Amino acid sequence: MARIKIDLDRRVGELDRRVFGGFIEHLGRCIYGGVFDEGSPLSDERGYRLDVLEAAKGLRTPILRWPGGNFVSGYHWTDGIGPREERPRKTELAWLTEESNRFGTDEFIEYCRLLGTEPYICVNMGTGTMDEAQAWVEYCNGTGDTYWADLRRKNGHAEPHNVRYWGLGNEMYGEWQIGALSAEDYVKKAREFAKVMKWTDPTIELVGCGLSGLADWDRVVIEGLAPFVDYHSIHIYTGSDDYWSNVLAPHQADRALRAMHAMIERARYEQRIDHPIHVAYDEWNVWFRERGQTSGLEERYNLSDALAVATYINVFARNCETVKIANLAQMVNVIAPIFTNEEGLFLQTIYHPLRLCAEHMQEVVLDAHVDCETHDLSTEASSWPHRVSDMGPFDLLDVSATCDATGSALTLVVVNRDPDRATQTTIQLADSSFEGDAAAYEVTGKDPGSINDFGHPTVGVDERSVQTTGSSLEHSFPACSVTVLRARLAT
Ligand code: AHR
Repeated sequence: MARIKIDLDRRVGELDRRVFGGFIEHLGRCIYGGVFDEGSPLSDERGYRLDVLEAAKGLRTPILRWPGGNFVSGYHWTDGIGPREERPRKTELAWLTEESNRFGTDEFIEYCRLLGTEPYICVNMGTGTMDEAQAWVEYCNGTGDTYWADLRRKNGHAEPHNVRYWGLGNEMYGEWQIGALSAEDYVKKAREFAKVMKWTDPTIELVGCGLSGLADWDRVVIEGLAPFVDYHSIHIYTGSDDYWSNVLAPHQADRALRAMHAMIERARYEQRIDHPIHVAYDEWNVWFRERGQTSGLEERYNLSDALAVATYINVFARNCETVKIANLAQMVNVIAPIFTNEEGLFLQTIYHPLRLCAEHMQEVVLDAHVDCETHDLSTEASSWPHRVSDMGPFDLLDVSATCDATGSALTLVVVNRDPDRATQTTIQLADSSFEGDAAAYEVTGKDPGSINDFGHPTVGVDERSVQTTGSSLEHSFPACSVTVLRARLAT
């Protein structure tokens, strides 16, 4: 028997909806064959795949990062504007392919408008110059009588694109990155990029390039860029064939966010910086099966991955004061919840918790008290590349609780990591009571390895109603499941 206790007065902070952000990169079939598929009967006349757009809308993505990823470090954005037939086809060195440039800045912005999401552009700090980054901001946001603003108008966009979020390079620390740098060299370069970009449009918000939140790189970069940036990024992917390592590894994100919080506060204090700096967790997901420069990264997700993904979201909620933006990598085909072929698409297991969380989680995060059995991960089967075996023991139930501003609606996201047994649980409210039945949206399946495929949506969502009695309810969370529980409260 487990117990979850909720006190509506114990508020942790506000859940920023931008943690439900997404990411699309010129990689494999993410853009071409995913988002954009010219000539396909499933696409509109501009080339946007309408079935993908529809599925993506279900995820309520508030912010979308583009064009990379590693791709951006060799990308010259000017190749991707103007008449499509005249755009150069180029060798692409991040993923060893060719880039047609038929999808570029204007197509990306148009897609963001269709999806109802804010564009977030990461600039090229590998082969790209400061001048190019400056011109990109001016092309997108310029209102003056200048060459770049005029070029945008000439390309059919009289009004500025108003791109608010800009990233200062991607994973500039990694030897796999085109133009990788030491932390010190990155800081020097990024400061200059930041200056010209902000001078061009002082309303933009900048994201400094971080690593894992726990690396020396992060400390040097946050200290060096604190006066210039609004966010520091983290990328952590986890995953393992070992069930326990796979479902518990997302707790690494919890540690990373706590470490970042401390580093950022220290830098702000020491440098007397008044503006807030938050974490943009701008790449995250389960990813360990399909790796390598030419693999296309078409990871197939199983039920245990859906549990891991829901745990990440819970971690973001519990650290809502630190992380304000998070971008699932990626949106379609490439380590993604949506998977296409020429005839259609299917929704991977991870789509369901993502969709349910984005739809049902509320704006205020509460500090849920959880009392349940635990699991100790004393040995860990390679949860690439991050280690959590020194953390824990971990509650078998991972829980986030959110309510609306008035305290009349409550949502719990409960991940039951017990692979074998359902967990009978009492949910107790401290000073309020339930009103009517609650709704439980359940994602579970035959076993942790269950996957979905075209025409075989094995793992989906079951909806059931849950009786409440005054200030408590009882519910049995199925083995290996994610449950989003939504209840109304008497105010
Ligand atoms: O999302 C796939 C890749 O993972 C991105 O291109 C890169 O930024 C990260 O290493």
